Amino acid sequence: MPLVTTKEMFEKAYNGGYAIGAFNVNNMEIIQGITEAGKDLNAPLILQVSKGARAYANRTYLMKLVEAAVIETGLPIALHLDHGDSFELCKSCIDDGFTSVMIDASSKSFEDNIALTKQVVEYAHDHGVVVEAELGTLAGIEDEVNVSAEDSSYTRPEDVEEFVTRTGCDSLAIAIGTSHGAYKFKPGTKPQLRFDILEEVSRRLPGFPIVLHGSSSVPQDLVAIINQYGGNMPDAIGIPEEQLREAARLAVCKINIDSDLRLAMTAMIRQYMAEHPADFDPRQYLKPAREAIKQLVMHKIVDVLGCDGKA
Ligand code: G3H
Ligand code: 13P
Ligand code: ZN
Repeated sequence: MPLVTTKEMFEKAYNGGYAIGAFNVNNMEIIQGITEAGKDLNAPLILQVSKGARAYANRTYLMKLVEAAVIETGLPIALHLDHGDSFELCKSCIDDGFTSVMIDASSKSFEDNIALTKQVVEYAHDHGVVVEAELGTLAGIEDEVNVSAEDSSYTRPEDVEEFVTRTGCDSLAIAIGTSHGAYKFKPGTKPQLRFDILEEVSRRLPGFPIVLHGSSSVPQDLVAIINQYGGNMPDAIGIPEEQLREAARLAVCKINIDSDLRLAMTAMIRQYMAEHPADFDPRQYLKPAREAIKQLVMHKIVDVLGCDGKA
């Protein structure tokens, strides 16, 4: 099976009350850990590449590694550009063979967001590629953008019909209280996603797939391992997984996870290096890191997304 778009995945997910995991990939071990989990659980997958990941690995390597994963697993896998910030970047990924792109013009005015999104949609649809757009602004750190909590803003449900109709986008990322990075909320606070906004958005856009960014749960056991072995991460908590599971039962069809993968990989490498200080073979420390990613993704597929057995 070649790379697929998210169209059929989202239709089934919407009707089945589950979501597809969209996992950020930067190298071979991350791709292998995620796709081995998907294979063992027969789960569809979205592998997403940010502008920074593409610059790190170069434009060809991640594409070819993802193509290798498709051959190895036989799973329906979509290759998605995460947070595309320009028409040119989206076009370049479409020309390379990505099956899905995000144009993130959420920091622009409503009209400018519509204009840029529409331009990307026209090119993408001409090439059989689907487009995710965003309305509302998440707090947190992305590659080149750092949005403070004060500058973040929830999606306004009254905007969504006009936005989707005028742009023709295929899915919509909304801001309902998630945020990017590993420092989402102070310990002791009680994060609460705005289900009222999600429900109002889906009432206005029946059957339309909704996306949640910033959905890592920041597992405390991984943070503890990092800090036990020389790390210095401040205490912080992430998005409660039961709230993500509830969102997946509703209109949310795509849930983005990157920070948790980074924590899993970093924790295992720190632990391995501390316990085997004389080792210098990258395979020795990348193997447990890859396995930790696999275990984390298996947990997400079964307990958060509910997409096991849905490939
Ligand atoms: O939302 C952003 C993703 O976590 C990607 O992060 O831009 O550092 O690759 P990155
Ligand atoms: P996290 O930082 O919560 O993993 O979010 C990742 C994301 O939204 C990628 O687009
Ligand atoms: Zn994101």
